[in-house]
Amino acid sequence: MPRYRQGKSAGPDEFKLSSNENPYPPLPSVIAAIESELEINRYPDGSASELTAKLADFTGLSPDHIAVGPGSITILQQLLAAVAGPGDEVIYPWRSFEGYPTVVTLSGATAIAVPLLDTFEHDLEAMAHAVTERTKAIFLCTPNNPTGNVLTTEQVEWFLALVPSDILVVIDEAYIDFVRDPAAVDGLTLLEDHPNLVSARTFSKAHGLAGLRVGYALGNPEIIDVVKAAGLPMSVPNLAQRAAVASLDAIDDVRERVDHLVSVRNRVIAGLVDQGWQVPPTHANFVWLPLGAASEAAGEIFARHGIVARVFADSGVRVGIGEDESVEPLLNAASEVVTSLTVDLG
Ligand SMILES: Cc1ncc(COP(=O)(O)O)c(C=O)c1O
Repeated sequence: MPRYRQGKSAGPDEFKLSSNENPYPPLPSVIAAIESELEINRYPDGSASELTAKLADFTGLSPDHIAVGPGSITILQQLLAAVAGPGDEVIYPWRSFEGYPTVVTLSGATAIAVPLLDTFEHDLEAMAHAVTERTKAIFLCTPNNPTGNVLTTEQVEWFLALVPSDILVVIDEAYIDFVRDPAAVDGLTLLEDHPNLVSARTFSKAHGLAGLRVGYALGNPEIIDVVKAAGLPMSVPNLAQRAAVASLDAIDDVRERVDHLVSVRNRVIAGLVDQGWQVPPTHANFVWLPLGAASEAAGEIFARHGIVARVFADSGVRVGIGEDESVEPLLNAASEVVTSLTVDLG
């Protein structure tokens, strides 16, 4: 059983950039909504009706296209519980989100991890070739965690045309709000023409509600129905539902914060490029430093500079985009990595 490793926590003078979280505290209106929802002696609304209606407004879909769950990782688990079991196969890109091996194993299916290209992009051709009669589901991750690059609409349409329409394709769009590439795919726009496609989204990242665990699936009502059936009843507390509704009500403020994080990302990227790094083009709230064997030593250098990053042994270091104040120590650490370790900058 692959164990999910959580990003390390940070000490008082450190920046926690290890879990792709939003560094900002909840918006005042979100805190007010939570404070008004303290009837926690009662079970929550199991159908998440208010949040579902709000998401319907927000996406332009009807409520029967939407399933809310306790975090998008649980949505992924529910999707697989619904379609895959022992003897079946689930394909995903690798390296990608560390939750994928866990949810596939929990479903009882066999994981088919298809390596990324040297450019850190999904190898869509190899993923299509990996399809067998046992394949039940395929995950796409855009922007990809931990490398940050996006799939384009054209690439996803090409892929969907190759994949048999009875295979579930899940497009994991946890970081979609940070995307600024006009060619990047938005799964929502493809749902109508591709009934086997589901988009998984979350309030954990752009909305900064990771601690409350709210995610959702968008897709055709038949699949959404089984996603709901595969979940435990009443698993999203009212408090979390209320916070998500309040956050959607304050979408302009949320977007302003996301825009600011994108500007911080641009400063980080510009600083790294100045130092000679060739990082994959990131459209998420993190950046990938492909350091290979030097990853662990680099992680220690980041830690000495007060930056808690996520180290993937022998592969790379993922550094989140955080507070403005984190940029200087982050770039100082990256510079020390370049000068003190023998690294191939890409
Ligand atoms: C690509 C991706 N998908 C899904 C998730 C799960 O998010 P949550 O369960 O908080 O909604 C994460 C979390 O880091 C992620 O990186």
